[in-house]
Amino acid sequence: MTMRVLVTGAGGLLGRYVVRAFARAASVWAMRREDLDVRDRQQVERLVRELRPQVVINCAALSNVDLCEREPELAFQVNAEGPRHLAEACRAIEAELVHISTDYVFDGSKGAPYTIADPPHPINRYGASKWAGEEAVRRAWARHYIIRPARIFGLGGKNFASALPQLLRTQPLLRAIVDEVGSPTYAADLAARILEILARGRPGTYHVTNRGVCSWYEFACEVARHLGCDRVRIEPVRSADLERPARRPLYTELRCLLSEQLGLPPLRPWSLALRDFLEEVKRDESLC
Ligand SMILES: NC(=O)c1ccc[n+]([C@@H]2O[C@H](COP(=O)([O-])OP(=O)(O)OC[C@H]3O[C@@H](n4cnc5c(N)ncnc54)[C@H](OP(=O)(O)O)[C@@H]3O)[C@@H](O)[C@H]2O)c1
Repeated sequence: MTMRVLVTGAGGLLGRYVVRAFARAASVWAMRREDLDVRDRQQVERLVRELRPQVVINCAALSNVDLCEREPELAFQVNAEGPRHLAEACRAIEAELVHISTDYVFDGSKGAPYTIADPPHPINRYGASKWAGEEAVRRAWARHYIIRPARIFGLGGKNFASALPQLLRTQPLLRAIVDEVGSPTYAADLAARILEILARGRPGTYHVTNRGVCSWYEFACEVARHLGCDRVRIEPVRSADLERPARRPLYTELRCLLSEQLGLPPLRPWSLALRDFLEEVKRDESLC
């Protein structure tokens, strides 16, 4: 029988890739924010009870880090209360819950790859709200898969990594941070890995990123090199030099002990995944 999957935040960057990946193998309800607001406990409960999905994948979030800093109450409602509502609704019908978290639960001071054994210590409100969301899920329902990616990039994303091809073509000068280092994650690779993790049937906390680390500056230079944007000046800046409401962790390489135990190979290097993303951007442009 075809698996029934409900995806929240389906209009977002990752949500769209997850819907596409799962639609090949499952019957998918793609819920955008206007279809399902995860802050509304009753709406979540009612919809999950009516549709009876076997798996719920929570891609809904307030993902703008500075907005979370300015509006912490909203951040906690979406990023902590929302997952709690979903976990309770999943428990009521015994559905599995995949909840997407972040590398920003860590403070970035370890100087070595973080594993799931490392205690989280968020340094901004986005990270704190996401950590609270993880804990709410763990408390509410055992059949959860908490996935921590980092620096997601993909077509249609509004974040820096996803917007780079467009920025590099339209701006004469781009400032990119040199001292925030992490592992970029192509949304297509992450969506495919979520499918593989679910197929193993082992609930728990997973770190999922493409292999290798880089700064935003290195990432931007690599995108520019591929696109042949040699007229754009990319200026390296330091994290502390930018006046932003939220602090960022400076080094968040992740290692996944659980994937290693289950024999799931590391994802391909980010630089290879980036080529596929840029091909996707080109195909998209040729359709316009
Ligand atoms: N982007 C990254 O670099 C990154 C890195 C690590 C982890 N993550 C995590 O990955 C997940 C997916 O992020 P993303 O990059 O796909 O973010 P995104 O593009 O901002 O997508 C999030 C989606 O959630 C929706 N949403 C917001 N509030 C909602 C609510 N109350 N109820 C239901 N839906 C709501 C948003 O709708 P509107 O757009 O209409 O508001 C948006 O479609 C999140 O859990 C995020 O924390 C992201």
